[in-house]
Amino acid sequence: MTYEIALLGATGFTGGLTAEYLADHAPGDLRWAVAGRNRARLDELARRLSARSPDREPVGVIPADMTDLQSLTSLASSARVVATTAGPFAASAGTKMYFPFRWSMRLAVCTCWTR
Ligand SMILES: NC(=O)c1ccc[n+]([C@@H]2O[C@H](COP(=O)([O-])OP(=O)(O)OC[C@H]3O[C@@H](n4cnc5c(N)ncnc54)[C@H](OP(=O)(O)O)[C@@H]3O)[C@@H](O)[C@H]2O)c1
Repeated sequence: MTYEIALLGATGFTGGLTAEYLADHAPGDLRWAVAGRNRARLDELARRLSARSPDREPVGVIPADMTDLQSLTSLASSARVVATTAGPFAASAGTKMYFPFRWSMRLAVCTCWTR
């Protein structure tokens, strides 16, 4: 288990707000990572978040695409908790998201919303 928390969808608007909150308020020794499908954007985001809170553990990066079951299974095995703001929700709440987390017996936290 590499991370305590992975945040899928961190490159989006809602995910960005969540990531900034974690960077500012998480315990300094918390190991957490941003996850998503665009490696370049994730690297840039992790660099910016780490620079924002230099006293904390550097933010990790986990490549993951919610349309790819294998990458979701890998994501679920990388973190104790996976929080997701990846959207649209109609796409992210399906079985592809659900099953890897159920198999891994880990906690998946999904934001539920109406606009
Ligand atoms: N905006 C709001 O005020 C608000 C408020 C409450 C709830 N919500 C809900 O939160 C969800 C996200 O909204 P948002 O405004 O933050 O949208 P957004 O800015 O478009 O962000 C969507 C995120 O999902 C990621 N994503 C999309 N397809 C993906 C895939 N196949 N694999 C992995 N990641 C994928 C995007 O990654 P890329 O960077 O690679 O595109 C991006 O990080 C929506 O369902 C929305 O209804 C939004």
